[in-house]
Amino acid sequence: MSDGPNAPGFFIVFEGGEGAGKSTQAAALTDALVARGHRVTRTREPGGTPAAEAIRAILLDPAHEGLDDRAEALLFAAARGDHAQRVIRPALLRGDVVVCDRFMDSSIAYQGVARGLGTQTVADLSLWATGGLLPDLTVVLDVDPQIGLARVASPDRLEAEPLEWHRRVREGFIEIARRAPHRYLVLDAGRPPEDLATEVAVVVDGLLA
Ligand code: TYD
Repeated sequence: MSDGPNAPGFFIVFEGGEGAGKSTQAAALTDALVARGHRVTRTREPGGTPAAEAIRAILLDPAHEGLDDRAEALLFAAARGDHAQRVIRPALLRGDVVVCDRFMDSSIAYQGVARGLGTQTVADLSLWATGGLLPDLTVVLDVDPQIGLARVASPDRLEAEPLEWHRRVREGFIEIARRAPHRYLVLDAGRPPEDLATEVAVVVDGLLA
């Protein structure tokens, strides 16, 4: 099916700021792939294993306002390490298409760029945590944070950051995608969800053919 770096499986990640519609698109792609006979593992970050979900609860809890930036980056990386080793890699080895809501580029954009920890440091941390796991394709759903945040009902600890901070996250994603365009699909999240889903499915079909 795939002869990419994660063969026999294929690893697809949806990235973007708050309220970009990642979950909707991940669900639509999963349905489309299952309808074409693929076996799909759908998962998300931070989370995807019991330990990583427990770390997620720590990270998003507004009670932990002021959590140290490096501690935050390490917790995201710790959750990712467990998720990668126990869910994503086994699924790829079985030949599944893995569809994941957020992965290491979220750490690079949020912790590396917006928190200012440095993109290389945060990328290295994630690569160390996962043993070098990289997606075959990352779909970036680009949204103006003012519009995306307006869709958030009760903000978690990160969503509660100021607009300017979320603008840096957005710029982070765009810059990451610009540096490796062959592995990224950047889409305007303001387009109708059905249009976006169709475009993603066409691109993925082409890569899996
Ligand atoms: P998510 O569950 O995708 O939030 P939402 O569905 O509300 O978009 O992600 C939780 C938050 O964690 C989100 O604000 C992005 C942030 N995050 C990081 O800062 N670094 C990371 O590595 C990841 C995976 C997420």
